[in-house]
Amino acid sequence: MRAIPRRTSEPWRVGVLFSRSGCTSVIEETQLRGTLLAVEEINASGGIHGREVVPIVYDPASDPGLFASCAKRLMVENGVTTIFGCYTSSSRKAVIPVVERLNGLLWYPTPYEGFEFSPNVIYTGPAPNQNSVALCRFLMQHYGSRFYLIGSDYVYPRESNRVMRELVRDNSGSVVGETYLSLRAQHRDFLPVLCEVRRLQPDVIFSTVVGESTACLYQRYSDTGLDPRRMPIASLTTSEAEVMAMGADVGQGHITAAPYFESVRTPANSSFVACYRKRFGNDQPTNMCAEAAYFQVHLFAKALAEANSLETDILRSAVLGLEFDAPQGRVSVNETYGHADLWTRIGRVDSRGGFEVIEQSRAQVRADPYLIESGRAL
Ligand code: ACM
Repeated sequence: MRAIPRRTSEPWRVGVLFSRSGCTSVIEETQLRGTLLAVEEINASGGIHGREVVPIVYDPASDPGLFASCAKRLMVENGVTTIFGCYTSSSRKAVIPVVERLNGLLWYPTPYEGFEFSPNVIYTGPAPNQNSVALCRFLMQHYGSRFYLIGSDYVYPRESNRVMRELVRDNSGSVVGETYLSLRAQHRDFLPVLCEVRRLQPDVIFSTVVGESTACLYQRYSDTGLDPRRMPIASLTTSEAEVMAMGADVGQGHITAAPYFESVRTPANSSFVACYRKRFGNDQPTNMCAEAAYFQVHLFAKALAEANSLETDILRSAVLGLEFDAPQGRVSVNETYGHADLWTRIGRVDSRGGFEVIEQSRAQVRADPYLIESGRAL
C-alpha cells in the first residue's frame, strides 16, 4: 500500500542513537559518522522527493537503559518513527520493546549473535551464518581444532560463543577453556586469562571481547610474548577502529571475519573511503560497522523514495527485497528475516593496521539468523 503523497517541504526527521561516550564509543562514533555521511550525500543530491533528511542525534553513553529512554524520547517527544542505532546487543534488546510498542523501525548496523527476529528491526550487520561459520572453517583448516573462548560478559559474547562452541564440537574440535570479563575490564584483568591460555596452549583464541577492553586484551597478549602466527586471536568485531586503538604492531597477524574491510576493492568502496577520510580526517579508517551504518541509510533513502512515507508498515514493506551497491559489494534485504544478505570475508591485520583479505565468498551470503538452512556443518 502506498501513502497518498503530500505536497510539503517539511524535512524527514529520523533518530540516531550511537554513543559518543562510554566503553563502546570508539566504534559507535564511527557508526555515527557513517550515518551522517550518508545523510549528507542524500541531501546534497536533493533529498527525498525534494525534502531533506534531518537527523535528531542523542548520545546514550554506552548504557542500555539510556538507549531505551532516548528511543522513547525520539518517538514520543520528537515524533520520529525511524531510528538508526545501537552497537551492543544489550542496547538493541533494550530498544526493541520501545519500537515494538510504539511501532517504530530500528536499523541495526552491527554484527550480532543471531536467533532474533522483530518486525520492527532491519538488521544490516552479519548473523553467525555470515561470519562465524566461515571463520570456524578457516581456523580449523589453518590453525587447529582446540579453541579457547573469551568474551565480554553480556548477551552477544555469551551467545556467539555458544554458536562457536557448537560449530567446533560438531566438527570434531574441542573448547579447552572459556572466560568472561566485564565490558569495562582493564589490562590487569586479562593477565590471569592469558596465563591460563599459555598453560592450555589452544590452537586459537576466539574473542568476543568488545569495546575499550579489546585493546587491553590484544596488548596483554602481545606483552605475554604469544605469537599470532601460531595462536591468533580471531574475532567478529575487531575492526580497523579497534586496531587503531591498540596499535598496528599489537594487532598485526590477528584474524577477523567481517563483510567489509577498508581494503575491499569495489568502486563504491573507493568513493566511500575517500569521502569518509575527507570528511573525518585522512588518518581515520573506515570499518565494517561504519560501512553498515552508511549503506543502511542509503537503503532507507531508496525505500523512502518508493514509499514516500515514514510510516513503519509502509516503509518496511518497501525495504524488503531492496538491493544496494554498498562498499562491500551488492547487498539486499532478505524478505524472510529483514536481515541483509551480505558478503563473508576473512581478514588478517597487516603492518599498517589495515586488513589483508585472505578469503571471501563468491557472492553475498543469504542471512539465516536461526542457522536453519546452513546448519552447523563447515
Ligand atoms: C554486539 O554486541 N552485537 C557487538
